[in-house]
Amino acid sequence: MPDKYTTLTPNLYQYLIDHRTEHDPVLAELAQATAALGPVSMMQIAPEQGAFMTLLARLIGARSAVEVGTFTGYSALCVARGLAEGGRLLCCDINEEWTAIGRRHWEKAGVAHRIELRLGPAVDTLRGLPAGTSFDMGFIDADKPNYRHYYEEILKRLRPNGVILFDNVLWMGQVLDANTTDESTAALRALNDFIANDRRVEAVMLPISDGLTLVRKRAAGEVG
Ligand SMILES: C[S@@+](CC[C@H](N)C(=O)[O-])C[C@H]1O[C@@H](n2cnc3c(N)ncnc32)[C@H](O)[C@@H]1O
Repeated sequence: MPDKYTTLTPNLYQYLIDHRTEHDPVLAELAQATAALGPVSMMQIAPEQGAFMTLLARLIGARSAVEVGTFTGYSALCVARGLAEGGRLLCCDINEEWTAIGRRHWEKAGVAHRIELRLGPAVDTLRGLPAGTSFDMGFIDADKPNYRHYYEEILKRLRPNGVILFDNVLWMGQVLDANTTDESTAALRALNDFIANDRRVEAVMLPISDGLTLVRKRAAGEVG
């Protein structure tokens, strides 16, 4: 067992959520529009995760970002808001109906000019990027069996010290449940094990929402 930790009870997690500063009316409106879709709305990232992603984008001065898995555009809005002046976010998804909700709210938030949405399988979109494409930040939140492909495609285009975030890495705790053997769970377990031993990056797994892995690409020749 770790020697220093606090068990995150639901009340304590709520306390943590209540003590952040990001409160954006357009994000709240977008969350409402997403909730109106019904149970599928649980795919949207949690607001505290969005606040973290905006902060991270600002901290690293991100100008070029890519997202795999846009849904109704909540995480995209969070990242786009955190981009430096002139920054661009490439969004990859396959669903026109859900992403149309995002487009409307990106317009409303005044960040639509920063976002390019590409509809189609994300592996194809990433592999088809022009030579020389470079990213400061990536966010992976689509079909779990392809996470490893998304990782490789983004990592090779990531600048040294750039970051990639992976959503749902705890998968509601199923990564630790030996009785759960479906493809998505197996893919996430394999990815988590792979990243923990990947010398190309420095990685931490954060207990935000459903688990968020943050990796930083090491610079060439970096001793770590
Ligand atoms: C968990 S949701 C993304 C949630 C989003 N990041 C947010 O904050 O609301 C996953 C998305 O991945 C998309 N998706 C699934 N398979 C895909 C693929 N092969 N290529 C691109 N997008 C895909 C789905 O259409 C869905 O919108």
